[in-house]
Amino acid sequence: MAREGESNGTPDAEPALDFRQVFEEAPALLLVVRADAPRFTIVAATDAYCNATLTRRAEILGRPLFEVFPDDPSDPTPTGTSQLRRSLERVLHSGAPDTMALQRYPVRRQDGTFETRYWAPVNLLLSDPRGRIQFLVHRVEDVTAFIDAREAAAQSSDRAGELQVQLERLDAEVYARTQDLLDAKRELEVRADELELFAARIAHDIKNPIATLGLRLEVLERRAALDPASLASVRQMGEQVERMGGLVDGLLAFARSGARPAPGVRTELRDAVHGALSDLRPGADQAHVELRAEAIPEIEVACAPGVLASVLTNLVRNAVDALQGVPPERRLVEVRARRDEARVHVEVEDSGPGIPKELHADIFRPYVRGPGPSASGLGLGLATVKRLVEAHGGDVGVRSEPGRGTAFWVDLPVSRDPG
Ligand SMILES: Nc1ncnc2c1ncn2[C@@H]1O[C@H](COP(=O)(O)OP(=O)(O)O)[C@@H](O)[C@H]1O
Ligand SMILES: [Mg+2]
Repeated sequence: MAREGESNGTPDAEPALDFRQVFEEAPALLLVVRADAPRFTIVAATDAYCNATLTRRAEILGRPLFEVFPDDPSDPTPTGTSQLRRSLERVLHSGAPDTMALQRYPVRRQDGTFETRYWAPVNLLLSDPRGRIQFLVHRVEDVTAFIDAREAAAQSSDRAGELQVQLERLDAEVYARTQDLLDAKRELEVRADELELFAARIAHDIKNPIATLGLRLEVLERRAALDPASLASVRQMGEQVERMGGLVDGLLAFARSGARPAPGVRTELRDAVHGALSDLRPGADQAHVELRAEAIPEIEVACAPGVLASVLTNLVRNAVDALQGVPPERRLVEVRARRDEARVHVEVEDSGPGIPKELHADIFRPYVRGPGPSASGLGLGLATVKRLVEAHGGDVGVRSEPGRGTAFWVDLPVSRDPG
């Protein structure tokens, strides 16, 4: 095969594609910066980007982004660069593309004065197959002409002009609403982050005294010469304290379950299933429940080991709990999995009493619990599973007919990285 950018002298050899040239001449406004925050060194730009920003490629490559594109010093409340910086930092932090609200962004003319432009930017991450972050792509659409047209049309008086004005007002409205939506979404994300921190903090602060209390009760139970009635109360207190610890763990797990996966994380499915089942086997044995794993394929799933463990443990533990009222010879929980293109489909099926149809839509919501005698929980287990799975781009669901058992399923993306 001929090497890129090299002619091997054969007259009929296909000319090699010069990817650099193709990129630079692409009809899109693209800027590529190194992920070396806070400097963000510029490493590539398309001609279209240079034209729109009135820059020359040779003059901007290798320079820090915010030195080349500083805020307009004549603007008393410059926001452009700080919003861009925050957006790039969000992308680095989350790994997900970040769409910025419509920006008013001044560009510097050769004579040093500024010209106002309107941008609709999106920032995204370019990482190599091993998940090491290397570059950020800043893609913008220049909507200045659209904004100007709207203003020009507003001044024209004929009928067509009026219609045009109305149309463009609608479009402008859509832009404005999009901006509001993006602001609201960001606000929600910030609040979710704060709530998560808050919940984690509270849970942590409660866990310490609970642990101390539990230890003291154990000591009391063993050491003191207690009369039988007091001993029974102390034991009961111990059980309640343990239950409180479990509830706090559940809350903490729920609070943390919305986090997106770090780039490149993966977990081997078969190991995770066997690990979860062997953790739960002692409890299942005690409850006379048979746990089975059916031909689990060896697949790398795109999530951290703890995530898969939490999903499986919640589903299998629920299934075991649901079998309490079933005759012992029919207490079976089976885990199955198959690959379905870019996803893996995992099912946890039990031979229990089933879940009434009218609960199927709500069962994944926090604090929703079924009719049966549930062992311990707050009703956060399935909500945690759903949030974990959805934060990883997956889906969850349930199939169940009363009297004939229940199957919970989750779909999770398979890791795209080569092993
Ligand atoms: N396999 C199952 N079979 C029957 N009911 C189930 C099953 N899994 C969950 N449920 C019902 O769904 C409810 C919610 O489950 P979950 O969110 O894990 O909360 P928790 O376990 O804290 O009660 C449970 O209270 C239970 O009634
Ligand atoms: Mg549960």
